[in-house]
Parts: sequence; structure tokens; C-alpha cells
Amino acid sequence: MKDSHNRSINYMRISITDRCNLRCRYCMPEDVPFISHERILRFEEILRICRLAGRLGIRKFKVTGGEPLIRKGCLSFLKELKKLPDTDQVTLTTNGVFLKDCLPELQAIGIDGVNISLDTLNPDTFRHITGRSDFARVMDAILSCQACGIRTKINTVLLKDVNDHEFWDLIQLAHDYPLDVRFIEIMPIGFGKEYQGYDRSSLLPLLSTRYPDYETTNKTRGNGPAVYVSIPGFQGYIGFIDAIHGKFCHQCNRIRLTSDGMLKLCLYYNNGINIKEMIRNQLEDEQIMAVMQDAIFHKPAEHQFYHTALEGTEEARKMSQIGG
Ligand code: 5AD
Ligand code: SF4
Repeated sequence: MKDSHNRSINYMRISITDRCNLRCRYCMPEDVPFISHERILRFEEILRICRLAGRLGIRKFKVTGGEPLIRKGCLSFLKELKKLPDTDQVTLTTNGVFLKDCLPELQAIGIDGVNISLDTLNPDTFRHITGRSDFARVMDAILSCQACGIRTKINTVLLKDVNDHEFWDLIQLAHDYPLDVRFIEIMPIGFGKEYQGYDRSSLLPLLSTRYPDYETTNKTRGNGPAVYVSIPGFQGYIGFIDAIHGKFCHQCNRIRLTSDGMLKLCLYYNNGINIKEMIRNQLEDEQIMAVMQDAIFHKPAEHQFYHTALEGTEEARKMSQIGG
């Protein structure tokens, strides 16, 4: 459906858990408190919301976390989500640690793509960033995706003095394999505030020093706000997601469902619609749909990451609670 700013809203990101098996330093510290199980939406509750969202024109779903694959029943949920009458596309964002063993089933379900987070190609740096020693498992999963032909995107958060020296090696993945490597600008959400990152305007000049004949494409490869460039001889594309500095709010097509059942219209704002409460208060489909429709229509025009004046409206949750 269209919102009041004439944007087509057709994409929903669903966070099915705030928990994660990794502890990326810009995302969650060791002793993070998690949402209790009763406050998390059950899969059948999420599917009901998705079915209604489908009737409102939401056709594409991205399942995220925390880490979605650590939630029991995730694969059956994905299967049901894919089977909903209005669903066109189901994709998954994962840290890749438990991905390899899930691939046969994901393929059988007909998953439309996976986004795998990978910030480094060095096992020691991986442990430094994520607090865990799972580098080999993630790399193995990435290569297995190539072997079975699942559409793959790598998400990398490049941080000053942490992994920025690996820029060239990370790009090389898109040369060696038919996958896209996307650099996400660190967002000042939660622990992200403590790091200095890079946006496209700093990375493209760097890219051109080694690949002067790169070309910016105007293709959208997927749902998102990434700008892609192609490099001769590369099998995949290099993408840049300028979360802060390249405002793409005017073409935003997305809404979010948090694991505790809030419908969020914009990543930036801490408000949302409490759908879980409506469901658990036994509201009818039509009533819930009317509220969703109204909320989507009034989706905010843009984020306010630049303005500190609006304190109090800014999102206070951590990224792992929203689902990125
Ligand atoms: N800013 C940008 N990206 C983030 N991610 C987690 N926290 C942040 C943040 N503050 C990324 C992860 C993963 C994706 C799901 O979100 O690195 O690639
Ligand atoms: Fe887990 Fe992703 Fe957060 Fe890392 S960034 S701790 S993989 S949710």
C-alpha cells in the first residue's frame, strides 16, 4: 500500500528473537538482558500478522534477529511464511554460525536469499569483534551457499582501526564468488555510538584508487537502500549502505516487526504500534488490519539522526532488539 508520502510499502523486516550467539562489540555486550519468552511473539502470532500485512500489500519479508537461526522452529516458521498467499519473497539475515546445516532445508523451502554478516576474514579479528571463535563456521557457510546457488549478500560494518585494513580482502570475495559485499555505515544506535565508521563518500574514492573503472549501477538488487557498483572481472557487486549520511527515507519501502510485537514504522523512532497486545486481547483480523493500515499510512517522513534536539523520540533499543 502507499503511505501518506506516496511511498509503496511492500517490505517487512521481522525480528524473531533479540538473542544472539555472538557478542559483536558494537551491538551487544556480554551481560545484555534479554526479553523474557512470554513477551516474545509466538510463531503463529507472527504468521497471523504477516498474513494481514500481506493483505495490505506487504509481499516481501526479511527474517532477522538477534540471530534468527537460534530460535527453535525457525525453519518451519520460514516455510509457513513462504506459503502465505500474498508472500513473494522470504529472505534471512544471519551471522552464519548455524547456517550450513540449515541450507538443505532452506533450499527446499525456496528461500529467496541470505544476508550473512561478516566483518573480517581474520579469525583473531573475528574473535575480537564478536567475542566468539566461529570464523571458520561462518566462512564455511558462505562457501556452501555458493555451492548450492543460494543468493548471498555479505554485510560488513567497517570500523576505524578495527577492520578497515581489510577493505580490499573483503571486496575480493565478490571477485572470487558470485555474491555481493555491502558496507554498512555504523549507526549511532546502542554501542554503535562508540565507533567511527565509513560511508560511501569515503569508500568510493578509495575503491577508485585500485579499480578506477568501477561503475555505479542504478539497479536495486533487493529491497534495500544499498547503492551498488560493478567492477570489471568481478562476479558480484559491491554495495554501500549509508544509513546516516545518505538519506534514503524518501524511497523507504519498509516496516519492522520487533520480537516483542511492536510494529515499527521507522528504525529511528522509539514508538510503534503494539500489535501483540491487540492479538492477545482477542481483537478480530479486521480490527488489527485497520490499525496497521492507519499506522503504515502515517509512517514518518524521515529519520532524525542528525538532530539531537528531538531527544526522547530517538530509539533507545539496541539493534539486536529491532533487527537491523
Ligand atoms: N550500525 C550498523 N550496523 C549494525 N549492525 C548491528 N549493529 C549495527 C549498527 N549499530 C549490523 C550487523 C549485521 C546487520 C544485521 O546489522 O553487523 O551485519
Ligand atoms: Fe549478533 Fe548480529 Fe548483534 Fe553480532 S551484530 S551480536 S551477530 S545480532
